[in-house]
Amino acid sequence: MMDKVNFTRMKDGTKEEYEFLTAHEIDHTRHTADRLLKALVELDESLSGYQITRLGHSVQSATRAWRDGADIDWIVSALLHDIGDIYAPYNHDEYAATILKPFVREQCAWVVQTHGDFQMLYYGHHLDGFDQNKRDRHKGHPYFDDNAEFCERWDQASFDPDYEDLPLEFFAPMVREVFARKPYDPEVIRPGTREPLVNDAEAARRRGA
Ligand SMILES: [Fe+2]
Ligand SMILES: [Fe+2]
Repeated sequence: MMDKVNFTRMKDGTKEEYEFLTAHEIDHTRHTADRLLKALVELDESLSGYQITRLGHSVQSATRAWRDGADIDWIVSALLHDIGDIYAPYNHDEYAATILKPFVREQCAWVVQTHGDFQMLYYGHHLDGFDQNKRDRHKGHPYFDDNAEFCERWDQASFDPDYEDLPLEFFAPMVREVFARKPYDPEVIRPGTREPLVNDAEAARRRGA
């Protein structure tokens, strides 16, 4: 049994070695969800100054999505929407979307990818060099209203230290389920399909549960 390849330049690798590496990669991929959950906990150390940490903000956004009756794609997207803050402070939205894109509906990935432009509505007017209406560049996009609602209901509202968050562990099985999906499965991506952020019947059912 091989435990390491022999080549030092990729072009010298053999078929057996590349098959061996592919098997390794598949094993590595299986743990993506757990790595992301660990990274979320690291978000706890980032961005001081707010009343809650980035981890608290992430969990609160996901909790609001869950209480609104949103589906699993929305909930996991809300939970991970700011995960890019760790390594990509200037395009954290694109970074998070890149992680989500193979595994969630196109609608959710687009919203995460551009939420930074939409969030500016809430603070851009207070700062020099920021455009409060930056979201207008997306006017006419089929998911424009979904992003406006995402930011209004879940993102900009989730900085409240007194809100009763569900624990991160509550969301862990949902993250595992989403990242165990077949990547880029057309039945998941469903281009052009819009699912509501708010589902009152489902929200009522969850409240009763
Ligand atoms: Fe963000
Ligand atoms: Fe956020």
